[in-house]
Amino acid sequence: MCGIVGYIGQRRVVPILLEGLKRLEYRGYDSAGLVFLQDDRLHKYRCEGKLANLEEVMDKVLTDSCVGLGHTRWATHGPPSEANAHPHSDCSGDLVVVHNGIIENFQTLREKLRAEGHVFTSQTDTEVLAHLIEDHLRDDLAEAVRQAVREVEGSFALGVMWRKQPDVLVAARFQSPLVLGVHETGSFMASDIPALLPYTREIIFLDDGEMAVLQANTLRVFRLDDGTRVEKTVQHIDWNAGMAEKSGYRHFMLKEIFEQPQSILNTFRGRLDPQTGLVSLPEIGLTNEQLLGIKRISLVACGTSWHAALVAKYWLEKWIGLPVEVDIASEFRYRRLLLGPDVIVIPISQSGETADTLAGLRLAKKLGARVIAICNVVGSTITRESDGTIYTHAGPEIGVASTKAFTSQLAALFLLTLFLGQVRETILPGTRKELAAALVDLPGVIEMMLPSLQEKLHVIADEFARSRDFLYLGRGANFPIALEGALKLKEISYIHAEGYAAGELKHGPIALIDRDMPVLALAPRDCVYGKLISNVEEVKARHGRIILVGSASDSRLAEISEYVIGLPDVHEDLTPLLYVIPLQLLSYQIANLRGCDVDQPRNLAKSVTVE
Ligand code: AGP
Repeated sequence: MCGIVGYIGQRRVVPILLEGLKRLEYRGYDSAGLVFLQDDRLHKYRCEGKLANLEEVMDKVLTDSCVGLGHTRWATHGPPSEANAHPHSDCSGDLVVVHNGIIENFQTLREKLRAEGHVFTSQTDTEVLAHLIEDHLRDDLAEAVRQAVREVEGSFALGVMWRKQPDVLVAARFQSPLVLGVHETGSFMASDIPALLPYTREIIFLDDGEMAVLQANTLRVFRLDDGTRVEKTVQHIDWNAGMAEKSGYRHFMLKEIFEQPQSILNTFRGRLDPQTGLVSLPEIGLTNEQLLGIKRISLVACGTSWHAALVAKYWLEKWIGLPVEVDIASEFRYRRLLLGPDVIVIPISQSGETADTLAGLRLAKKLGARVIAICNVVGSTITRESDGTIYTHAGPEIGVASTKAFTSQLAALFLLTLFLGQVRETILPGTRKELAAALVDLPGVIEMMLPSLQEKLHVIADEFARSRDFLYLGRGANFPIALEGALKLKEISYIHAEGYAAGELKHGPIALIDRDMPVLALAPRDCVYGKLISNVEEVKARHGRIILVGSASDSRLAEISEYVIGLPDVHEDLTPLLYVIPLQLLSYQIANLRGCDVDQPRNLAKSVTVE
């Protein structure tokens, strides 16, 4: 996810761009840049690292330019660097682009443009857009943009400037947000509302497949497909700046929970052919021959990422037929490891900087294992030291409690399972298509489920917010989800919670069950459903207070529990991605009722870069 801002009007543009980027920095902060038009020339400034670096540079730049574009980056293709920072230029340097999104066919377009003589200066997918628009450029920038994006597959929110049309900015969007600001002093564009609030609250929301031509005293919107004019409604926004950064959500954690349909989609977008179920993971960094030679898989992670690893063990052993070990990184790095070139070690990390996971990676490399990271931050240390990385395109995760990064890790691990099954021919094509279709449908299922879930969970949160303890139970691939649900609750509400394999209850924890003990059990209709229900009956016989999460069509659940959280039916293998969401939301609501600091819980940090 990146942040875009643009302005054309009567005011000095650089302060507007810098202030706008500051308010969008939560969307990405590994590099930043801006461009303005002065004396018939485009002046471009780009810096790696935080926005403060760019501000420092701009302090020394004097200009009264009134038109420009700015960008703060969350890298998806090409590590953070000045060369990869936006804005990107065409060959002439007369045209610049800022972009938020993923161009799925950028390699194909890059090769085509190179063959036509275009010279590339970055590793990004975005630069392709600058050259593509240049290719279509005649005498009208808007028409060139419209023609160029017809060749693009993927998502984009664009800002474009051309030296030869100094009185125009062009904006376009498809599946990446872009809002426009209207004011008597000029016209604005931005990825999100916070960037515009200091200047205007009169907002136009650009829709998918639309573009806009911004001028100092006018703003027109057109359809991308046929260029016809679109009449848009100007909406008055009465958010304060703080709320706006969270797009109206009270906390980043809640916003990120609701972003999960998009982050899961972004993780498999461009890597999975919905028709054939074929997966492509060119970034894996290993040849098919090396993948065929694997004898064992070792997953290494901490915290929530370790829970993702535990889920993946079930998938990989089921579909690939290889032994899979899962280690907590702080244990992995201190035990005797039996690794070698026939073992793949997979460090999983949202931040890519967790000290124990990084130490485990280094040890694995020293012992000759091949390393494929699953990570959310392009260019982070873990990715730079791995043989290959499968990025989770979840965008920046600001809330300390990991939510969208977790389900994106699961999506990436499920893709890896399908890919290994494809290479090692352990999954029949028909089964692969069925599994792939289930993943493709999942974002829509979650999108539909989320709104009503909040209401349902308020009742349960009110009832149990004062609990001292909580037990979470699960079986199979949902046992790690029980662990994750317990971790979410304890890390943001400070209630002591434990996740357990439901079959373990009678080996000790059942002694905890009494009329005050809330027990939340995950009961999807899977191959261990009957066993799970028996465990719930054991809790009921001892007067435990039962909350069941299961299929909305399963009438049995209400017969044996006090509360039921009914969910849509999905493929058995994908229930972990669906069933974790009510647990995230329940933790969020209970923490709120207890007045806890949801986004920054006590004693915690977003990335544990020390042992
Ligand atoms: C998750 O809610 C926690 N914030 C924490 O357990 C986290 O998952 C763990 O520290 C690992 O971080 P990483 O994924 O960035 O390596």
